[in-house]
Amino acid sequence: MDGDFRTSQMKALVLSGGSGTRLRPLTYTGAKQLVPVANKPILFYVLENIAAAGVRQVGIVIAPETGQEVMEAVGNGSRWNLEVEYILQERPLGLAHAVLTAKGYLGEAPFLMYLGDNLIGCRVTDQVQAFREDVSLSASIFLKAVANPRAFGVAVVDGDGRVVDLVEKPQTPPSDLALVGIYLFRPEIFEAIDNIKPSARGELEITDAISWLIRNGRKVQSHTIDTWWLDTGKKDDLLLANDTVMDDWLHRRVDGTVDAESRVTGRVHMEEGAELIRSEVRGPVIIGRGARLVEATVGPFTAIGPGVVIERSSVDHSVIMEGCHIRDIPRLENSVLGRRVRVFPAATHHDSISLMVGDDCVIEVKR
Ligand code: TTP
Repeated sequence: MDGDFRTSQMKALVLSGGSGTRLRPLTYTGAKQLVPVANKPILFYVLENIAAAGVRQVGIVIAPETGQEVMEAVGNGSRWNLEVEYILQERPLGLAHAVLTAKGYLGEAPFLMYLGDNLIGCRVTDQVQAFREDVSLSASIFLKAVANPRAFGVAVVDGDGRVVDLVEKPQTPPSDLALVGIYLFRPEIFEAIDNIKPSARGELEITDAISWLIRNGRKVQSHTIDTWWLDTGKKDDLLLANDTVMDDWLHRRVDGTVDAESRVTGRVHMEEGAELIRSEVRGPVIIGRGARLVEATVGPFTAIGPGVVIERSSVDHSVIMEGCHIRDIPRLENSVLGRRVRVFPAATHHDSISLMVGDDCVIEVKR
């Protein structure tokens, strides 16, 4: 190590603030980065990937509303052999604003910036190493070819993968390469952020800062990933993230108890203390600790959180979070239930439904 900031110890910056409006109502009561995918918070996959890339020092940007919950879940990061510090961003004024807020923490270090709600199907180790070694690079970004580039920040790259242009949500996309929420920066990104203004939506955009680097002759490299990339921003994205992660990474492991009248087929991960009584589970399915299924049919592609109780019901292609109780429901599918939700038949014999739900819930009923 020669003391030059371009090669000094790499840090990571995880953005775990924001408002998560698209994932309401779940985000009224919890951080969007802690929403579980296959029973594990999205943020934990992010931290695992950072640790695998050999980066130890991680700053996590948190919001006043959800920061406490994030701190309680992650702690000091020792579980991943990381040294985690927290940086409070008072208001969600944009990704570049989050970077600016972390300036004191980052100092002169090159850093890996990772959006705390993004999931990808590969490691970033090689790209981190390449960036560390090539000190001529000001930034390096991860890209993914997508079918609907109009919805994303889109990059134009030359034959060597060097980024020549970036456009935010283009009407006429110049390419189909969308920016995945993973970036590598050297400290000149702060100079770029100092030179940009808030966008039409009032945020300091990281794409504007990277465009400034390009316009000013700095070298911005790209790496296009060919595995999946999931933004867990909305309900269907969350279901897709669960499907994909379970499809790719789930192994059969039955640590819970299964009675003689139950059947478990395929890749089912049943954690300790989970219990099956006269039930059938078809993988891929994950069942959290202490969950209890009685005369239930579950799966495929379903995540059952810890302590969930399902009785005389059938559930498939769903995410059922911690502490939910489902009783006597013939068929529940394509559903996301937040923590401690209860679903059961109405006591009346009228053809009516009876609800007690919070703001922004979505309820689809039979016509
Ligand atoms: P977004 O998904 O772009 O924004 P958001 O979390 O406000 O969500 P929504 O659009 O549903 O309201 O944010 C990407 C990630 O960056 C996410 O993990 C939150 C984080 N973030 C910050 O930490 N600070 C910010 O100022 C912003 C805008 C986002």
